[in-house]
Amino acid sequence: MSIQKAAVAGGAGNLGPTILKAFVDANFAVTLLSRSSSHSVFDYASLESLTATLTGQDAVVNVLASKIIPIEVHLQLIEAAHKSGVKRFLPSEYGYDTSHSLTAKLPIFCNDKVAVVKRLKEISKQDSTFTFTPIVAGPFFDWSIQKNLIVNLVGPLSPIYNGGDIFFSTCTLSGIGRTFVGALEHPEDTKNRHFYIASAIVTQNQLIEWAGKSDPVAARIRTNGGS
Ligand SMILES: NC(=O)c1ccc[n+]([C@@H]2O[C@H](COP(=O)([O-])OP(=O)(O)OC[C@H]3O[C@@H](n4cnc5c(N)ncnc54)[C@H](OP(=O)(O)O)[C@@H]3O)[C@@H](O)[C@H]2O)c1
Repeated sequence: MSIQKAAVAGGAGNLGPTILKAFVDANFAVTLLSRSSSHSVFDYASLESLTATLTGQDAVVNVLASKIIPIEVHLQLIEAAHKSGVKRFLPSEYGYDTSHSLTAKLPIFCNDKVAVVKRLKEISKQDSTFTFTPIVAGPFFDWSIQKNLIVNLVGPLSPIYNGGDIFFSTCTLSGIGRTFVGALEHPEDTKNRHFYIASAIVTQNQLIEWAGKSDPVAARIRTNGGS
């Protein structure tokens, strides 16, 4: 299976631009699916028009926001990709491992991301030419720092999760972009399975310590555990 043409849905968001750059850098032919207006979700409502748009594409990369966009939109994109003969679908995952039984029970995931992968499994079982790859990246490293989610660089307190010494994997936005290219350049290795990536495996306390050493502003960070 050779994948050279990819359609990206929702490429103007947090994750999209880094993916588009990575695909262009790798000489993929990229088509960007975007809403006609920032108030519309209905551009994805017509199965016929979506199917026509996707015909000729090898892969569909869904980076539409999840949760705020109804699951029906995500499922419609899958149906259209399948109908149009797309070979590989990347669902809008990119975070935690929703194949883990406990993660899958979390309310934020169970009705959306988990249900999407379930549908992808059903279709790929019926039609072996249709394949899928959910990408598990952990929290986006640079995005999470900017949002003060892992370490709060501007506020007085960084909430410490589970004592702060638990290792977790995390990936930079540019690292995720390169992963999309890698996943599609190795279609057999990434076929019908979750694909796990990491730029680093760290603890929250390590990040707080390193931030304090390297940045005089960040050195003022105080944690729940003291200064
Ligand atoms: N692991 C992490 O730390 C992490 C962090 C953030 C996101 N994520 C995941 O990454 C994926 C993409 O998230 P993102 O933050 O990049 O998404 P986003 O920036 O919120 O939105 C991506 C695109 O979705 C479309 N969109 C947004 N709101 C919409 C609405 N109300 N109705 C219709 N379309 C809408 C827009 O496409 P148009 O171009 O058509 O306007 C937008 O460019 C999601 O699955 C999310 O859960 C993971």
